[in-house]
Amino acid sequence: GQCAVVIVAAGSGQRLGHGVPKARVPLGGEPMLVHAVRGVLKAGMAGQICIAIPAGDAEIEGICAQLAGEAAAAGVNAFSVVEGGADRSASVRAALAVMGDAVTTVLIHDAARPLAPAGVFDRVTAALRDGAKAVIPALAVVDTIKTVIPAELPATGAGVEKVSGTPARHQLRAVQTPQGFDLAILRRAHEYALTLDEVTAAAITDDAMLVEAIGEDVYVVQGSTHSLKITSPTDLLLAEAMLQGPLR
Ligand code: C5P
Repeated sequence: GQCAVVIVAAGSGQRLGHGVPKARVPLGGEPMLVHAVRGVLKAGMAGQICIAIPAGDAEIEGICAQLAGEAAAAGVNAFSVVEGGADRSASVRAALAVMGDAVTTVLIHDAARPLAPAGVFDRVTAALRDGAKAVIPALAVVDTIKTVIPAELPATGAGVEKVSGTPARHQLRAVQTPQGFDLAILRRAHEYALTLDEVTAAAITDDAMLVEAIGEDVYVVQGSTHSLKITSPTDLLLAEAMLQGPLR
């Protein structure tokens, strides 16, 4: 069967402070979305590509039209663009709704990780080929991570947070995209997502969470520092430096 790659690019990118949707923020002179799609083409496993974009953004539509040409030239059979939803999961669901019949596996990738190397795509695809139904790329964490709860300072009652726990760092992983799935399982996971209450649904930050929730094993492969999610202006600086080469 074919492998489809979904790129979710419908976020507003407000935290980056560029005043344009993140997918259009330039990196080395080209919109982030262009880097993300070229990365997928370079990796070479995509039979189909589907991009979820913000509603009514003619500029992104134009960028996608150009990328459709590049994808066709690279041998991709189908290239589609869908309107994203109110949150990331809704954008993924919009893309899953238009997958062609030939598709059996799907990689879900954030446009916000435009420099994810081909090696990561290869590792995810290889694990799917080796029988995994769900695969995520991840890195060990370097910081100690704590969970917190709302609290008040004893003397003043000032609202702060206090620590509620410290998970053992060696067990923790920072998770990236592309995340790879058997299409039928990912569809089942997203149907389950529609049954969740608003608060639970708002806490869904990746697709693997939903697959875990329906009881499927999610396998982990090595991610990459180049797959960083560009969220802050500092991330953008780092990505620019990576593009210059020495870090590449
Ligand atoms: O907001 P967050 O950093 O989790 O976004 C991760 C990815 O999900 C980004 O590539 C963003 O464009 C995408 N997204 C989307 N639709 C939304 C929200 C986020 O496609 N409604």
